[in-house]
Amino acid sequence: MKHFLNLIDFTADELSALLTEAARLKAAQARRIPATSLSGRVVGLVFEKPSLRTRVSFESGVAQLGGTALYLPGNEVGLGWRETLADFARTVSNFVDALVLRVYKHETLDALAAHGTIPIINGLSDWSHPCQGLADVMTIQELFGTVQGKTVAFVGDGNNVARSLAVGLGRLGGRLVLACPEGYGFDDKFREQYTARVGPDFPKEVRDPRAAVRTADVIYTDVWTSMGQEAEREERLRRFAGFQVNAKLLSAAPAHCKVLHCLPAHRGEEVTDDVMDGPACAAFQQAGNRLHAQKAVLEALLK
Ligand code: CP
Ligand code: NVA
Repeated sequence: MKHFLNLIDFTADELSALLTEAARLKAAQARRIPATSLSGRVVGLVFEKPSLRTRVSFESGVAQLGGTALYLPGNEVGLGWRETLADFARTVSNFVDALVLRVYKHETLDALAAHGTIPIINGLSDWSHPCQGLADVMTIQELFGTVQGKTVAFVGDGNNVARSLAVGLGRLGGRLVLACPEGYGFDDKFREQYTARVGPDFPKEVRDPRAAVRTADVIYTDVWTSMGQEAEREERLRRFAGFQVNAKLLSAAPAHCKVLHCLPAHRGEEVTDDVMDGPACAAFQQAGNRLHAQKAVLEALLK
């Protein structure tokens, strides 16, 4: 493993190995068994956008493995504007052992991976959110014992989170159905990548959320307006109005159905308080799994 940019770069066996290690790390952390796998290593965290889960879980994860994390706000280190991305990558490769980045443009990650000599970890781009996707399949495995054969109804935008989840599920024998307004589904670029590298069973897109959740094991949602799309907010609020995950929608799903959300939740928009605070919601277990999944990724890249 050289970088962690997209889940699609990993085979089912590689993803399964990461999940096994993540589960082992989770159990070890619960028993407070000290770890030293990142001893002497320094991981830089370069963020162009805000974050709670990604930043804190990486900082804690690196510390728990005996390493040091450095938070480097994108505007302060001048990512992409103070010097070229290539010069940034060549320079920072001398100082840290790996970089986690949250960026507006996915191409920024590709450029850093091409010009630097250290592992690059995608902490969210406009294209994908592989750390989230890995924690998502880990959570589904915990909830149901397996991802194989499980159906996730993603009710919302065909965005970075939905793409990574679709790939994670596709690799591990699950499937995603996307319920979204017209024009907000997966684009042709993703369809081409998916069918070429995951398989011909591309996620189905439907307009009726109730039809999507009828046979779902998990209902998943994310914000309607992602970071960087703020100018589209009013339009998106109008277009997604019928796609809220609320008690009525949940009542159309099987009784065992769980609700996941990558968070942060915009309560009252894509999801209601009663669902977020109700018994079907596993979003905080899911958030906690970011820590363990990412520790497995760090070990695979740096051990
Ligand atoms: N889900 C997620 O990535 O959360 P943050 O934006 O808080 O990092
Ligand atoms: N789709 C959201 C995810 C936030 C974790 C965004 O990109 O803002």
